[in-house]
Amino acid sequence: MSSSRDTFSPHSHIPYGADGSGFYSDNTIGCYNVILESVPLVLESVKSASVKPGSVFTIADYGCADGGTSMSLLYACVKELRKSYGDDLPIHVIYEDQPVNDFKSLYFRLEGLIPGPESYVLDFPQRVRHNMRHKLLQSVSASSVCKLGIFLHCPTLAA
Ligand SMILES: C[S@@+](CC[C@H](N)C(=O)[O-])C[C@H]1O[C@@H](n2cnc3c(N)ncnc32)[C@H](O)[C@@H]1O
Repeated sequence: MSSSRDTFSPHSHIPYGADGSGFYSDNTIGCYNVILESVPLVLESVKSASVKPGSVFTIADYGCADGGTSMSLLYACVKELRKSYGDDLPIHVIYEDQPVNDFKSLYFRLEGLIPGPESYVLDFPQRVRHNMRHKLLQSVSASSVCKLGIFLHCPTLAA
């Protein structure tokens, strides 16, 4: 007997292309370019954040898909944080998407195992951790994850 907790209805965005192939971002240059345009704006937010000693800087990417379209933005954020606060600041990047998402490609992109934008994990490995979630925050609307939902927060670690 199944309950509503056992069922999951995927949203309209079902991953296409072979699992682990990075197909989404390799074929979505338009989204990549739009997100790239947002780098100066997001960096202003990063620079204006109040970072207290001992805090963790958390960045969440809602509706991340395979992470390729936001990789350069997150790279720029991590680079800026390292420039401003050095290697000691812990940075936590949370990737959120549906359970059916191609998280395998995201892992591969972060580890540089498929070609694409440079991974901040490889270039700034000190005290950067990342994880992948489903239903991180229920209040985030589907329309926001279908575009770009980047959330910057310090000092609280959303665990
Ligand atoms: C069009 S893609 C956008 C991917 C990336 N953010 C970008 O801008 O290139 C939409 C993404 O949102 C995800 N998504 C849609 N509805 C969602 C939901 N209710 N909860 C979590 N993720 C969702 C899809 O699985 C898909 O990966």
